[in-house]
Amino acid sequence: MSTVKLQLTRGEIGEEPSVETYEVPYRDGMSLLDALFWIREHEDPSLAVRYSCRSANACKECSAVVDGKAGFLCSIRARSGSEVRVEPLSGRSWIKDLATSLD
Ligand code: FES
Repeated sequence: MSTVKLQLTRGEIGEEPSVETYEVPYRDGMSLLDALFWIREHEDPSLAVRYSCRSANACKECSAVVDGKAGFLCSIRARSGSEVRVEPLSGRSWIKDLATSLD
């Protein structure tokens, strides 16, 4: 089975952030946000990530840093066999895991 590995920043305000790695089954066309939904459904429902429109690039709530570059998790496609580092957006107040304040 083809997979994607995601290295995610975990933790919340008042804690030292850690990095946890998850392996997600790959499917054609999946976005990184889809991979995070899989983790929430199958591994850890407490994983925090902001989103609203889920695919239209309209709400911009799913902003994060992916392999060092800012982008929208719903529009960045996962690549089969890849390993991706996903961090909360810098320059905003960190709340939990990948979620930051909206200001
Ligand atoms: S969820 Fe709205 S832009 Fe990504």
